[in-house]
Amino acid sequence: MAGCDTDVAAVTLCRIEDIADPGARGFEVDAPGGLLDVIVVRRDREIRGYVNRCPHQGTPLETFPDRFLSRDASVLICSTHGARFRTEDGLCVEGPCVGKQLRPVPLNVDGGAVSLISDPLA
Ligand code: FES
Repeated sequence: MAGCDTDVAAVTLCRIEDIADPGARGFEVDAPGGLLDVIVVRRDREIRGYVNRCPHQGTPLETFPDRFLSRDASVLICSTHGARFRTEDGLCVEGPCVGKQLRPVPLNVDGGAVSLISDPLA
């Protein structure tokens, strides 16, 4: 999959301190493959990115802006049918798409800036 990524010249999404630890935020990026809806998750000092598209029926995960995580911030939750995804790898561990994964988005953190380094959909 990495071979089909397209360089987006490191689009800066935010500063790392703009995301709580643990926390998650959504971003829309004008990428080579079209508008890209990205979830950035921060937990235990790790930053991960996923395409905001549920593998069950393709909807965005959140109903309200930036509301992706369970109360204890242990999993990402799809608000459509309740699928739960591990924050560390996007694997669905409960719900209608168990075993499927959120599509990862390659991110870079440099000098406190969180950047998208390629478009996983291009
Ligand atoms: S669309 Fe996400 S669980 Fe059904």
